[in-house]
Order: sequence, then structure tokens, then C-alpha cells
Amino acid sequence: MTDAPLAIRALLQDGGSLRLDQDGGEGWRRITEASLEEYRAHHAADGYPEATRETMAMFEGFIAKWAGIWGADSMIDLGCGIGAALPPYVRNIAGTLIYAGLDPLDETPERDYPFVCGRLEDLAAKPLDKKFGLALFVTSLDHFEDARNALALAARITGGGHAVIWCGLHDSPLIARNDLSIKISALCQSNRNILTRMLAFLAYGLVTWPRVALALSRRERKLAAGRPLDNLHCHYFTEQSLKALLTQAGTVHEFARCPGTNSAFAAVTLNDAT
Ligand SMILES: C[S@@+](CC[C@H](N)C(=O)[O-])C[C@H]1O[C@@H](n2cnc3c(N)ncnc32)[C@H](O)[C@@H]1O
Repeated sequence: MTDAPLAIRALLQDGGSLRLDQDGGEGWRRITEASLEEYRAHHAADGYPEATRETMAMFEGFIAKWAGIWGADSMIDLGCGIGAALPPYVRNIAGTLIYAGLDPLDETPERDYPFVCGRLEDLAAKPLDKKFGLALFVTSLDHFEDARNALALAARITGGGHAVIWCGLHDSPLIARNDLSIKISALCQSNRNILTRMLAFLAYGLVTWPRVALALSRRERKLAAGRPLDNLHCHYFTEQSLKALLTQAGTVHEFARCPGTNSAFAAVTLNDAT
């Protein structure tokens, strides 16, 4: 006997939540739950850092642009987090483009938006009575056990295989630029006089640059050996590895590096190759 299709049409129209039986390996669940404290502070208490909010505002424009080009009427946010309120990166566009979130973490039963509690893998295993117009991966692609499979599953649950992706990159020059530019700007603000500014730069350079150089080479060695950089992600993409993955997964229409950050945005039409 085949399963009855999941009522996605009613979810998008009327809101509410759907709960799926969840699978998923032990290692993946450990990684997913290791970030819960950060998610409680950021998603649940709406306490995103200012720099993240700025990138979210840029990403919202990127989603709107590609939803308009593709004529999408709805979006499913694959790994939306645990917030009860709409995530900041869709607050201005959710009125015109119906938003639904999906996440395996069942921390927040009541949400202000249609919500599917489960993994993408659990949703894609079911027949749906309606496909979504667009899939979003918002800093979530590196949290999937199998990122290539996740992209193929996103193609299956969307009408045209359209996806918009925001992914953090781990290339060490990008990380260095990010961290150091924040510090340099703070030094400039707290040292307005040329002399103290020069001394501050000098002291900072002597103390910090060697530490940064060491941290970068450690990062590069780990990336080259395929070792994890922390215990919070399943993958650590560089610009090259992300582009390679996306190119294999479908047609990349736009790949934009977000200025002043280590984030990249991509718009892709995915192939369902599962
Ligand atoms: C870094 S958070 C991003 C949350 C939100 N998109 C944001 O940017 O604030 C990554 C999310 O991906 C979710 N996730 C991990 N594996 C997943 C899977 N297999 N299917 C769906 N979501 C998953 C995690 O539970 C987590 O909430």
C-alpha cells in the first residue's frame, strides 16, 4: 500500500505543522544537537549578531530576485532552525511568496509559519500533493549528512528544481579577511589619533598576526586532509568545492561572493538524480 500524499497544499494555505517520522545517523544527530545553545540564542531569541543580520538582508534580496525570475509562488526553507517567528531573511518577502520552514529539531512546537518537523530526507521519501516553488538552503547545506543527496532531494520536492543557497566558505584568506577587518575597524574607532593608532596597529600586528598565520595554516592542513574544523558541521566547503558540488548537482545561474564576509550565495536549477 502506498502512503497517502502529504497535505502540502493545505499546509501552505492554512499554516500549522506537519510532523514526520525521523531517521538519521547518530553522528549527524550529535552534530545537529551540538549547536542547540547557539540556535536558542540566535533563532529562538531572535538574537542574531548584527553582521549576520546584514548578510540576511542581502540574501533576502537574492531570494526575491530569483523567485521573481523563476516565477515561484512558494518556498521551503530546508533547515530553517528553531525560531517561532519568521527568520529575518524572509520577513519582507513572505507576504508575497508563501514561506514554509522544515527542520528536524522539535524545540518550538508553535510557529508563526507553516512548519514541517523532520529531515529533508524524511519529507522527500513521501509523496506530496503539491511541490514547492523554490528550495532554500540557508547556512544549512553543510549540516546535511550527504550534501549531494540533499540537493537531489530538493530537486524532487520542488516543481522546477529551483534552489537558492547561502553557504559559509572556509577558504583561509576569506576567514582572515573577515576576522581581521572587524578587528582593524574596531582599532580605528577606538584610536582616533595617528600616534595611538600606529601604536595600536603595531601592537596588534606583533601579538595577533603570528597567531592568525598559525591558525590559518592549521585550517589549511585540516581542509586538505578532509578533517573536521569543529564538531558542528558535516562538511566544510571552500569556494572551489562548493562550486564543484553545485555544478555536478545542476545548472548554476549565479554564484556571488557576499562582500566583507565568508558567505557565498548561489542560484541553481537542480537535477533530481536520486
Ligand atoms: C545553521 S542552522 C541554519 C538555520 C537557519 N536557516 C538560519 O540561517 O538561521 C542549520 C539547520 O539545518 C538543520 N538541518 C540539519 N540537518 C538537516 C536535514 N537533514 N534536513 C533538514 N534540516 C537539517 C539543523 O537542524 C539546523 O537548524
